[in-house]
Amino acid sequence: MDKKIELINTRQSTLQLGAIYAVLGSLWILFSDRILFVLYPAPETMTILQTYKGWFFVLITVPFIYYLVVRELKNSLRTEYLLREQETEFQQLLKTLRESEDLHRIILGSISDAVFITDDQGNFTYICPNAEVIFGYSFEDIQAFGSISKLLAGSIFTLDRLKVLGEITNIEWEIKDKFGQKHSLLINVKQVSVKTGTILYTCRDITKRKHAETALQQAHTELSQAYDETLAGWGRALELRDDETKGHSQRVTDLSLRLAQAMGITDETELIHIQRGALLHDIGKMGIPDSVLLKPGPLTDTEWEIMRKHPVHSYEMLKPITYLHSALDIPYYHHERWDGTGYPHGLKGEQIPLSARIFSVVDVWDALRSNRPYRTAWSKEKTLAHIRQLSGQGLDPQVVETFLELITTPPSTVGENPR
Ligand code: C2E
Ligand code: SIN
Ligand code: SIN
Ligand code: FE
Ligand code: FE
Repeated sequence: MDKKIELINTRQSTLQLGAIYAVLGSLWILFSDRILFVLYPAPETMTILQTYKGWFFVLITVPFIYYLVVRELKNSLRTEYLLREQETEFQQLLKTLRESEDLHRIILGSISDAVFITDDQGNFTYICPNAEVIFGYSFEDIQAFGSISKLLAGSIFTLDRLKVLGEITNIEWEIKDKFGQKHSLLINVKQVSVKTGTILYTCRDITKRKHAETALQQAHTELSQAYDETLAGWGRALELRDDETKGHSQRVTDLSLRLAQAMGITDETELIHIQRGALLHDIGKMGIPDSVLLKPGPLTDTEWEIMRKHPVHSYEMLKPITYLHSALDIPYYHHERWDGTGYPHGLKGEQIPLSARIFSVVDVWDALRSNRPYRTAWSKEKTLAHIRQLSGQGLDPQVVETFLELITTPPSTVGENPR
């Protein structure tokens, strides 16, 4: 800039000097002859003097003109140099700009995210090329939607909120593209410049991930259902062997869940474990020979030894199944007794897991209310009296108390063996 001003000044002063020269030269031509004529009127002297005067004029003006020409020449050379320099600088700038634009285009083209820019009113000022590809809408289409607030209405995004927070991340939103296809988007919004009001949006298309998640969820649900159906199938398989216990597994499961809830167990997971454990509690009886399991009369000591192994059989059978680890307490401990006289470990009181203490009350209730190969079903009164008697001996008194409340509160048909 300074150089330019300097060049202009030089040119101006050259013009000024030229003008001075023109004025002085004209004055000289006008007056020198006249002065000469007044001083030397003789014509021959005059002619010689005029020649000398002409030479003198030339001698004086040549360096001056030379100075002016050189000065002007230098000036124009410098002007040209400066212009060329400016041109180079401009070209360099253009090149840098193009490179940076190319880089932006490459970056925006290669990321799978769609990028938008709006002003502080949410009006679109830019959309990246692949946003057009993803959604099928052109920039003009998208501008025609109006403010972004309209497109994201109902989401956690509002312009006011953005103004306070500066950025809003992980907005999950669903939109339809130009072809009616739904896209699940994960949108991050950032206020890039408060001064210009520029807001930047990056949208990731998570449709595939969403579908995969749903499919996985569904597969998991189906698998869980298949598991539970398998467990129920095992329970029924056992009941097929011993016709008298038909429906026992399902009844004790239902009643155990109700009693567990009455005992204050509300945790969904815990209840599910109780459900599975109850359903499978006697699965170990599969390992008990028919001669013992279906014996119509009382068991001998040897037979009892075999029979007492059924909780251990249950445990061994189910232990390798990770899915059932937390459901093992009932199959393993349902014949432990409050007073420590039970099997297989002889645990006492609260050493016995609560779920097993709850279950054994229900098991005794349902067993006695049903026919067995070795006896017919007991009446409700006799059974309740028996359970009351076992309170504090075989059974946890607190569980018995809750059970009696539950079973005697209408509808009293709860947990009844329908036979
Ligand atoms: P279960 O038939 O499912 O009986 C479960 C529990 O209910 C029994 O556990 C016991 O506490 C109670 N219970 C069932 N029937 C009676 C009964 O007639 N009287 C009394 N006081 N309580 C009864 P327990 O005693 O540990 O027996 C475990 C399993 O051993 C029984 O399961 C059953 O399969 C078998 N069992 C028990 N006693 C006999 C028997 O006399 N003959 C035969 N064949 N099997 C028996
Ligand atoms: C016992 O526990 O040894 C007796 C079995 C029964 O109650 O039937
Ligand atoms: C119980 O398993 O606690 C009851 C046993 C019995 O009735 O003999
Ligand atoms: Fe049992
Ligand atoms: Fe049982």
